[in-house]
Amino acid sequence: MTKPHVLQVGPYPEWDQVPLDAAFHMHRYFEAPDKASFLAEVGPQIRGIATRGELGANAAMIAACPQLEVISVYGVGYDAVDLAACRDRGIRVTNTPDVLTNDVADLGVAMMLVQSRGMIGAETWVRDGSWAAKGLYPLQRRVWGKRAGVLGLGRIGFEVAKRLAGFDLEIAYSDVGPKDYAKGWEFIADPVALAARSDFLFVTLAASAATRHIVGAQVIEALGPEGMLINISRASNIDEEALLSALETGKLGSAALDVFEGEPKLNPRFLALPNVLVQPHHASGTYETRQAMGKLVRDNLTAHFAGQPLLTPVA
Ligand code: 8YV
Repeated sequence: MTKPHVLQVGPYPEWDQVPLDAAFHMHRYFEAPDKASFLAEVGPQIRGIATRGELGANAAMIAACPQLEVISVYGVGYDAVDLAACRDRGIRVTNTPDVLTNDVADLGVAMMLVQSRGMIGAETWVRDGSWAAKGLYPLQRRVWGKRAGVLGLGRIGFEVAKRLAGFDLEIAYSDVGPKDYAKGWEFIADPVALAARSDFLFVTLAASAATRHIVGAQVIEALGPEGMLINISRASNIDEEALLSALETGKLGSAALDVFEGEPKLNPRFLALPNVLVQPHHASGTYETRQAMGKLVRDNLTAHFAGQPLLTPVA
């Protein structure tokens, strides 16, 4: 039997590439020097797309593949896939939920702790000899007992809140409605009101056109000069211009960010700010989770081409 032709949008680790190459005829889009001619050449044979959360598949890519049946996303977020184009043509879309939830929640909580306790600066303080030369490291901010807001109490938001409860934080959340699994955490519908009562605001929403810039100037200013914004979702959920300006003027205390507009080329204004912890979109980046994500990407493709139900369909 001939192997189905699959367009591969970005690189995967070797442990995924080898089995993908064995099962499918993979066409490496990311290696093509001229993307448009590569798509024009291979597009007509393509039946599947394997992509990553942040890379997705846009309308032009989908249009270039007239035989396309399925898009398998390595990531829980599928906001970069043109879902309308998929719906129009009956193209199935899968993602990798659940397997990455705990790692993403871990990184979000770690970022809060690292940033509050000034651990990056403290590390430098030891390494550059400041400890011996200047003495004690400047005092930092306590975490336990403070108020945390979780914007989006889905799978990841729930795991963040569970962890925060372990640090004795007082938890409230916003979502489209109260959740029965929220274990007594306070529901506050309005994100501005949630931010106003929070010391830490975690953004854990699945991104979509409806959530674009849901964290705007009002939410940011409600969080205030002592507040910290932590984003482990997508950059589009935050108005980055409003965030930068609030961080620069002190209207917002600090931020801890794993995602950026235009990443990996983030706005250089972030790098000039002492009150921001920047991370390279690696919340799901552990061996264990990435292996599970890769397996799910392959298993979804395999199931589809075998005419079996998809494991984790989103559309
Ligand atoms: C990326 C993610 O997919 O799950 C998501 O939505 O953004 C991440 O897990 C990851 O960086 C792999 O490309």
